[in-house]
Amino acid sequence: MDKKTVLVAFGGVSPEHEVSVITAHQAISALDGSPYQITPLYITKTGRWLTGENLLDLKNFEDLKKLEENCTPCSFGQNELGQSVLIEQKSGFFSKQRTTPVYAVLNGFHGSTGENGSFQGACEMFNIPCSGSGVMASSIGMDKVMAKEICRAQNIPVVDGVDFVEEEWIDNQAAIIKNIESLEYPVIVKPVHLGSSIGVEVVKDKEALIRAIESSFKYDDHLLVEKVVTPLMEINCSVIGSSRKQRTSVCERPLGKEELLSFQDKYLNDQEAKGMASADREIPAKIPDELTSAIQETSVEVFKLLSCSGLARLDFLVNEETHQFYFNEINTIPGSFSFYLWEESDIAFKDLLLELIDIAVEDQNQKARRIQSYDTNLLSQKAVKGIKGLKTNT
Ligand SMILES: Nc1ncnc2c1ncn2[C@@H]1O[C@H](COP(=O)(O)OP(=O)(O)O)[C@@H](O)[C@H]1O
Ligand SMILES: [Mg+2]
Repeated sequence: MDKKTVLVAFGGVSPEHEVSVITAHQAISALDGSPYQITPLYITKTGRWLTGENLLDLKNFEDLKKLEENCTPCSFGQNELGQSVLIEQKSGFFSKQRTTPVYAVLNGFHGSTGENGSFQGACEMFNIPCSGSGVMASSIGMDKVMAKEICRAQNIPVVDGVDFVEEEWIDNQAAIIKNIESLEYPVIVKPVHLGSSIGVEVVKDKEALIRAIESSFKYDDHLLVEKVVTPLMEINCSVIGSSRKQRTSVCERPLGKEELLSFQDKYLNDQEAKGMASADREIPAKIPDELTSAIQETSVEVFKLLSCSGLARLDFLVNEETHQFYFNEINTIPGSFSFYLWEESDIAFKDLLLELIDIAVEDQNQKARRIQSYDTNLLSQKAVKGIKGLKTNT
């Protein structure tokens, strides 16, 4: 029997495009010898959907233009049986389109439309199981303000901050600065929807604050300025599961060399492309057991509260002296799928990915078991005759 096809989706119109390529390639290597046919689904930086063997070799990504020329454009569609398929548009006037039924998608995008629920929505429209959180949890997870507001409402500790959109900044700069200054310097400026520390800056006075805000607006139209937690210790924890059950990984402590973990620290320090797995870190984090347990429990609480599924990494800011911790953000598609945390929790990367695929399929099956439409065609009923404004009534 033919193997079922799992698409590994990655790339995307996102500042984290390259990081996603690395995450996906780590997954593709780990899935070597899996029971599935692994097919790449690559979205270019300009949004083209491509597939093909050439996408399976990381070396080919050194020349993106050449790579694009040597791949096949593709899209989701349905075959004559109503199955959801990947359609490969073969070039040449007479060549036939190839269609492959899709069993599931392993979502390896980072940032923007691959992570914010848009791509998940496309999968949902085609009834294709997609790993990770669904539309709502993905979009909340990508919105630092929304995720924190929901947590705040449930008494999960979050850092105080001020958020505003560009229009508000233009109209009410003085009032916004006043609000921010009531938090007291130093404060940290960040774009609401981005990741990988892009556009994030700590500032200590008004002049630097205005400069950082203007600079961050280049990336996002919504910014968040927060009180800085100091002395800072960052602790992350991964959760795998669904609304049905969840488990946590060990905690990690990322160790940045600069004041905050920069894009450089996270991805560019190594010669070899290792993604998030290469950043300097302490695993398991050497923190008291009570703090570990509290962070693990809060991670599950947030995962459930935001209706997450699949895998997520929850990041906390901890005051190193008092051990007061704050939920900072949830990454619904964490770099390298946080495999290095699960390996430390005795789960091999391959098994982690297979479990992620299983959860996506199970989520889809659960949904399919519910009543989603009615067999009775209301339009065939006489009742239609009573509806005003229809041509049939005249
Ligand atoms: N309130 C804060 N106090 C101190 N440092 C912070 C605070 N918020 C963020 N940071 C630092 O900035 C980094 C990036 O911020 P984060 O909110 O995680 O955004 P991103 O989505 O870009 O990862 C964090 O990893 C941490 O080092
Ligand atoms: Mg972060």
